Amino acid sequence: MDTLVELKSYIPGLQVELRYATENNFTGKVIYAFAEARLRKGTADKLAKVQQILQDRGLGLKVWDAYRPAAAQFVLWETVPDPRFVADPTTGYSNHSRGNAVDLTIIDEAGNELEMPTAFDDFSPLASRAYTGISETARRNALLLEKLMVSNGFVPNPDEWWHFDDVTEYPVYTGVGYGIEREENRMDKIFENIKTRRSIRAYSDRKIDRKDLEKIVEAGAWAPTGMNRQTFQFTVVSDRAEIAALAKAAGQAMGNPEYDFYCPDALVLVSNLPEGTNPLADTACAMQNMFLQAHAMGIGSVWINQLKDVCDDAAVRAKLDAYGVPAGHKVWATCALGYAAGEAPAAPERKAVIKFVD
Ligand SMILES: Cc1cc2nc3c(=O)[nH]c(=O)nc-3n(C[C@H](O)[C@H](O)[C@H](O)COP(=O)(O)O)c2cc1C
Repeated sequence: MDTLVELKSYIPGLQVELRYATENNFTGKVIYAFAEARLRKGTADKLAKVQQILQDRGLGLKVWDAYRPAAAQFVLWETVPDPRFVADPTTGYSNHSRGNAVDLTIIDEAGNELEMPTAFDDFSPLASRAYTGISETARRNALLLEKLMVSNGFVPNPDEWWHFDDVTEYPVYTGVGYGIEREENRMDKIFENIKTRRSIRAYSDRKIDRKDLEKIVEAGAWAPTGMNRQTFQFTVVSDRAEIAALAKAAGQAMGNPEYDFYCPDALVLVSNLPEGTNPLADTACAMQNMFLQAHAMGIGSVWINQLKDVCDDAAVRAKLDAYGVPAGHKVWATCALGYAAGEAPAAPERKAVIKFVD
């Protein structure tokens, strides 16, 4: 599989002005922290041919965006979560993250950009390849770029005169080395999130915003599952009176009438098939996803085990039936959620459980 090549040194005369490496882009924010444009070698070879043809005419190419690390796509999406302008990395990556898409324009010998239908990342209809409502010069220039790119193996994006995809497909580029600085920052944040999460057992009255709650549960549903069976169900109880009623039923079944699930703002009942090891393992992965997502949003959580043992008690099961928990499911775990009342507890000591065999 082709690796990435750095375009400025690979293609003589090519100009690079990576807009997402600066604040000069439609988001107004720096999206990635490197200034070199990179593409798959095969894609760069095609681009080199276009540059050569233009150079013979006293013109050249200027690249605005090329390879965009997957992490940068997340940053872009978080900045502008609008699928009309940005590819949603949770549903599929932009070809920029595959290293075979390029945004570019034509420049003259002095390096001035030729007149084109619109500025870069102008998401108006004027940017489309209908080429209407624009000057004759802009139309001619955009068509020249399109013709040269297409005849050298690129597919033009119908809505953006500046965007071209290599006809050759590549997987998302995950090799390290490019954009890694930002990847590392991201990973550090994840590590920090893991290490600062604590089980919270006292909650304030503050309500969790519905959208936040949905995101936490969605993080749970994105957990890995054995053979991708996804046999679990996440049942969310977000009414405090109902949580108290369920606690009462569970408490009675356990012989502990005071039982209260720590009075959280919401409970996520993770139920699954009653037999086998994977249902519990899948549940555990989902629980940790929810804990970490909640913590990243400043929301506390704790694993609650009790329903596992009493979910088949008649009064508890009647409640579960009313919530729509599948009749054959066991509630393997319950995730209590809410804003912490007061400080989070100190981290309990971690044992020396790691052993490297070098
Ligand atoms: C499988 C499992 C079951 C747990 N059950 C309970 C529980 O029923 N009640 C509770 O208060 N905490 C429960 N916990 C939370 C642990 O007590 C907690 O994770 C541990 O003490 C470490 O503290 P920390 O989460 O703050 O790092 C459970 C955790 C796991 C992984």
